[in-house]
Amino acid sequence: MSIPTPHISASAGDFAKTVLLPGDPKRSKFIADNFLSDARLVNDVRGVQGYTGFYNGKRVSVMATGMGQPAIGIYSYELYNFYGVENIIRVGSCGSLLPDLHVRDIVIAQGACTDSNYMAQYRLPGTFCPIGDFGLITRAVAECEKLGVNYKVGNVLSSDCFYPDNGATLDWAKMGVMAVEMESAALYCNAARAGKKALCICTVSDSLVHPEENVDSEQRQNSFTQMMKIALETAE
Ligand code: HPA
Repeated sequence: MSIPTPHISASAGDFAKTVLLPGDPKRSKFIADNFLSDARLVNDVRGVQGYTGFYNGKRVSVMATGMGQPAIGIYSYELYNFYGVENIIRVGSCGSLLPDLHVRDIVIAQGACTDSNYMAQYRLPGTFCPIGDFGLITRAVAECEKLGVNYKVGNVLSSDCFYPDNGATLDWAKMGVMAVEMESAALYCNAARAGKKALCICTVSDSLVHPEENVDSEQRQNSFTQMMKIALETAE
């Protein structure tokens, strides 16, 4: 495969060493407009906007993925394997599975369990354990401490179903799994297979334990801004 790829129209060298991946294309533009200087559009295939610019002098890219493991699987694979990207940091949202993990808290996905069949492609004689990069986790934790935010580091569930028919998502909490989202496991698998680094940082947008917990749009924006600071400082 050569570049451009079927999903990314950028040229060689257009992406920085580290790419932040939000799910929402509008978020990608928001990050470029509000956090980066000299940001340049490097991809717009399918409206998946990708930008490269500078954060405090550090060259960083941001691009959307859409939702779900097949989607982040495609973009992260092409970034790692065809564009030479070294680090991918997903910046997303998740639903809390724990009573003491609240809306607006930050989740750092040390590991990602999954109900997906994504890793069957590797034909391993057992179950692979998708993990985030330890160095990136350490940097993200240091930034959380500096900002004084509420955060937890541990396992998440990367589910293929936002609306599971059996309603059994909370069973994962029995194993200490903190939160549910839909992308990290595939990202961590692609990083492992490519010999590259990945981390997923999420804000808690809803709680399966306390469904009454809610955030207004201003609070959501504040926690998103905090997460972006953490991710941009974590970027190498
Ligand atoms: N389920 C799956 N993904 C999510 C959720 C959820 O409840 N909240 C945010 N992302």
